[in-house]
Amino acid sequence: MARPELGVCYYPEHWEQSRWEEDARQMVGAGLTWVRIGEFTWGLTELGRNRFDWAWLDSALDVLGDAGLKVMFSTPTAVPPNWLVREFPEILPVDRAGRTRTSGSRRHYCLSSEKYVEEAKRITKEYVGRYGKHRAVQAWQIDNEIGDHDTAISYSAAALSGFRRWLQGRYTDIDTLNRSWNTKFWGGRFGDFDEIQLPVGSVTAPSPALELEFMRYSSGRVARFIGMQSGIIRKHSPGRPVIHNFMAGSYDFDHRRAAAHLDIAGFDSYPLGNLIEGHLSIDEKASWLRIGAPDYQGFHCDMYRELGQCGMWVVEQQPGPVNWASYNPAPVDGAVRLWTWMAYAHGADTVLYFRWRQVPFGQEQFHSALCHYDGTPDRARHEIAKVATERVRIPPTSRSRAKIALVVDYESRWAQRIHPHGLEYSGEFIAADWYRCCRELGNDVDIVGPETELLCYRLVLVPDMVISRDGFVSRLLDSQAQVVLGARCGSFDSLMQSPPGGAPGAFRRLIDVTVRRVESLPPWHREAVEFGDREYSVTGWREHVESDEPVMARFSGGFRDGAPAVLANVRTTYLAITPRGECLRRVLVDAMTRAGLPVTPAPEGIRVTFRRNIGFAFNFSGSPGMVPERPSQRFLIGARRVEPAGLSIWIEEDP
Ligand code: GAL
Repeated sequence: MARPELGVCYYPEHWEQSRWEEDARQMVGAGLTWVRIGEFTWGLTELGRNRFDWAWLDSALDVLGDAGLKVMFSTPTAVPPNWLVREFPEILPVDRAGRTRTSGSRRHYCLSSEKYVEEAKRITKEYVGRYGKHRAVQAWQIDNEIGDHDTAISYSAAALSGFRRWLQGRYTDIDTLNRSWNTKFWGGRFGDFDEIQLPVGSVTAPSPALELEFMRYSSGRVARFIGMQSGIIRKHSPGRPVIHNFMAGSYDFDHRRAAAHLDIAGFDSYPLGNLIEGHLSIDEKASWLRIGAPDYQGFHCDMYRELGQCGMWVVEQQPGPVNWASYNPAPVDGAVRLWTWMAYAHGADTVLYFRWRQVPFGQEQFHSALCHYDGTPDRARHEIAKVATERVRIPPTSRSRAKIALVVDYESRWAQRIHPHGLEYSGEFIAADWYRCCRELGNDVDIVGPETELLCYRLVLVPDMVISRDGFVSRLLDSQAQVVLGARCGSFDSLMQSPPGGAPGAFRRLIDVTVRRVESLPPWHREAVEFGDREYSVTGWREHVESDEPVMARFSGGFRDGAPAVLANVRTTYLAITPRGECLRRVLVDAMTRAGLPVTPAPEGIRVTFRRNIGFAFNFSGSPGMVPERPSQRFLIGARRVEPAGLSIWIEEDP
């Protein structure tokens, strides 16, 4: 079969039953093979406790299956029905301000509520028991975007008692906890586990160790919830892959631990919505308003590709304007095709669009779809039709491992939030900058975790791993790769205390640097750094380090002239700054060169990537660009000249 496969998210419950057959027929006609249904249907199938109305869903499934579509069924736990909330109001989540979040929209449940988990288990069994062996059901999605609308963490009474129990299991006695957390500070000693509070509502910052442990506890609840549902699916619907649709920019729980219960990691791709809400400059947002940031799709696909045991899908792809960002522009013609091919290029096997038909009521009334309100095709349908015809020209291939690994560590992200030390410091944005720089320099990147095997990499980038970990450093040492460590790496141990000897903790086994002082700098203050023959301007973060290792760049002029800014020994580079733009490029070019990697920048706005010997180029700029010439390059789609919002795909037959 030619790939990628295409599909769509469908809500039969929104439409007259008489329309379903026509919708299904059109989906098949549009080249779609997958349809996702069911994630918000609990309140429509169970009308009151154990009072079920399955008839409509049975028919919908039959209609879709009869049309030849493969159904990805979702468990419906993302929206507890109103009657359930009335029966057990304690299942509702509580926000940071201590307010109970009410029902009336979606995701109004607390993962610490054993009552909710029990109810979720019950309804999952009902759904999977009923539809698990239906011929049309070929995959399962668990819940929907867990963590969306800030729901991974809840400060409910159930969370408090769950957290206390969890701590008791972990530390056994309160003295051990007091010692481990160093509760001497501000006299915070606990006499008993029942004196522990959630890290919310305190007069000022609570204990950092407590905060980090609460994140671990909350993250564990997500993994447990996903594990519970996937266990039921595997038992009652064997052979169908289990998927969850993760979100862009979501770090509230450890996605790797959650994904350990899945077969396929899904990602919901909203390039324009996320651009508007993202961290790029106004000028960058303006240039990419209708096409999205050039590295958005690649970054997230690369990240979620590593999480799936058997693949990665884009479960929701933006088809036109969304309704939920601060501004909701329409994509330029060609963008939906480009995003689809880019997802495939970065490892997605299947792309589903969100949603089939724009709905004339409800909270997402102004969210575009593949069809207008009246069911006639909207713009994206034409682009998808094009992809559907193009895909047969591309021989199926998998993606090979990149030579560069970029490490993303969820616990480090939590630690940064607990001790940001500077308003603008964001590991998420720093990692995104480093990724972008590698891609601009023509290199593919795998996004890996602290437990990933690193032997196959030539260059490992560690932009923001603030928690020091011996095991990870041992793997780095075994790998022989060049390593680049960002500022703040190794600042904390696993309980938010400074590691012995201070930062960079265990990373000192790679480079003999000691961080004596850290400072954060406001964006309106810049300092000069001399790197070889050039001077760069930096801001954000500055470290005062002691080291006998070779210095690559120094602060120049002003405060502590000559102090080291970048150090590097034969294997490892350490940054005492958080460089961006040209300065970051300089650091990474240097590291790539040491690692023996090519530095082949593509023309501005063009991104090139590979699935083995199949090359892909995407043009995010406003003017035509040329694909770099490659040996034995034969174009399958497009040509060397790529139009704005266009793409080319080629094969290198004799690599
Ligand atoms: C996603 C969500 C969908 C829909 C979509 C709108 O975050 O999973 O259910 O709300 O956004 O863009």
